[in-house]
Amino acid sequence: MTVRILAISGSARRDSLNRKLLRVAATGAAEAGADVTFARLTDFNLPLYDGDLEAERGIPESVRSLQKLVASHQALLIASPEHNGGYTALLKNAIDWISRPSEDGKTGVALFAGKAAALISASPGPLGGIRSQTDMRAVLDKLGMIVVPQSFALGSAHDAFDADGQLLNKNVAQLVADVGAALYRVSSRLS
Ligand SMILES: Cc1cc2nc3c(=O)[nH]c(=O)nc-3n(C[C@H](O)[C@H](O)[C@H](O)COP(=O)(O)O)c2cc1C
Repeated sequence: MTVRILAISGSARRDSLNRKLLRVAATGAAEAGADVTFARLTDFNLPLYDGDLEAERGIPESVRSLQKLVASHQALLIASPEHNGGYTALLKNAIDWISRPSEDGKTGVALFAGKAAALISASPGPLGGIRSQTDMRAVLDKLGMIVVPQSFALGSAHDAFDADGQLLNKNVAQLVADVGAALYRVSSRLS
């Protein structure tokens, strides 16, 4: 069975360092045998989660699309930028919406539970966004995801890529690709 991995990033920025890192990890997953889909969270135009909006107008179509996308994948590869020591609002808002009841009436949490996830991050700072990973790991754990121990936090990320978005340091590139490959291995065992 082909393992389908959904790759998402918590950055909306066009020239996002996290998206560049995500591509490297995704290449590792694809080379290991995964079928990787990239989704840009900004393309879904999700409103900020609001219980009144949900009660009055129901779950937005954009959320339904994202829920279907998660449902059709066995694992999540997540690049989680760090904002003030935590994960970004874009990423958490998307997860909160997805966790709401899906069209079949099941809780959206079931879309996450028992699936594998891997975390990476990039920052111009020295710690590479590692604190966002710690917090995001706790959220994914709460949702019942199996977060693989392999991860990577790329510090000084503004100096780490060439013009084509490739990592200049090939040893680092291998370690990041290994995160994607580890996610593939765990998710294929779970599938
Ligand atoms: C509101 C805000 C808070 C930030 N807080 C942190 C932080 O706590 N730690 C850190 O390493 N970088 C922090 N940064 C810098 C981001 O890591 C940097 O903008 C990075 O490039 C964002 O990821 P992206 O390139 O994928 O968009 C912050 C940036 C913003 C805009």
